Amino acid sequence: MANVYTSADQIDFSIEEVKPMPVPRRVLMVKPTYFDVKYVINPHMVNQVGAVDTIQAKNEWEHLADGFRELGLEVLILDGERDLPDMVFCANQSLPFCDEQENRKVIMSIMHTEQRKEEVPYIEQWFRQNGYEIYHLDPQKVNDFEGMGDGIWHYKRQILWGGYGFRTSRNAYEQISDIFNVPVFTLELTDERFYHLDTCFCSLNEDSVLIYPSAFSDEGLQMIHRMYDNVIEASSYEAEKLFAVNAVCPDGKNVLIQQGSTDVNKKLRDHGFHVHEFSTYEFLKSGGSVFCLKLLLW
Ligand code: ARG
Repeated sequence: MANVYTSADQIDFSIEEVKPMPVPRRVLMVKPTYFDVKYVINPHMVNQVGAVDTIQAKNEWEHLADGFRELGLEVLILDGERDLPDMVFCANQSLPFCDEQENRKVIMSIMHTEQRKEEVPYIEQWFRQNGYEIYHLDPQKVNDFEGMGDGIWHYKRQILWGGYGFRTSRNAYEQISDIFNVPVFTLELTDERFYHLDTCFCSLNEDSVLIYPSAFSDEGLQMIHRMYDNVIEASSYEAEKLFAVNAVCPDGKNVLIQQGSTDVNKKLRDHGFHVHEFSTYEFLKSGGSVFCLKLLLW
């Protein structure tokens, strides 16, 4: 079934036919000691250089780590590195994978911007020490790939949703599909404010997803509607200003989300989800929130 799908009419199977994937039990977080906005590489960072309150950022980060622990996830913590202010967004440097036999593998990212390339070896070293089988994309063929910023697993299934256009090259997914032997649905991103898939697509459970629809092409939206019965939509204000879609639902039931997303929260509750709100205002200044501050692991 390994293949790359670009439109709904190519999809000739249903989610139930895809191999199962274990539910993540651990998260990796990188300490925010050196977090700051020091350069501008996405539209959210404009006018934010030097504007981070570092004490507040640490409080927000600790509170989020406690939130994961309260849901029963083990939180693994890695030190940040001086001069790598975005390393705290540890969803971006890799794409981990676990199959039904609990074999753990990881593909390392090729960061799009010069400012973030040096983060990857630190995360790779962590995976080496933690028993993951490590893979690299062919840099002769693939320009960019930003890990779980753009590659998001369908809940409980070995199927990947792959965003491309701003930080990831579309052809990265051909190699990813081969390495992990999984189907990939590619989604073109069309609005630079939603530069990573995790800013506009949040996998909730096997048949539910939260999206910001205007960030996708028509082909992409058709694929999303083909695979999910339940597509919850965020408003432009909550998606852009509160990063409401950069939420995470690690267990198919509890959603951790930036605070204040009133409309999305109501829709989530109406569908039976439990909503847990967190302040990530300092990280919003850098263009990130709950989802990208952690890496889901097994
Ligand atoms: N300043 C970081 C960047 O532009 C933020 C990354 C946020 N991560 C995410 N997956 N949305 O790369």
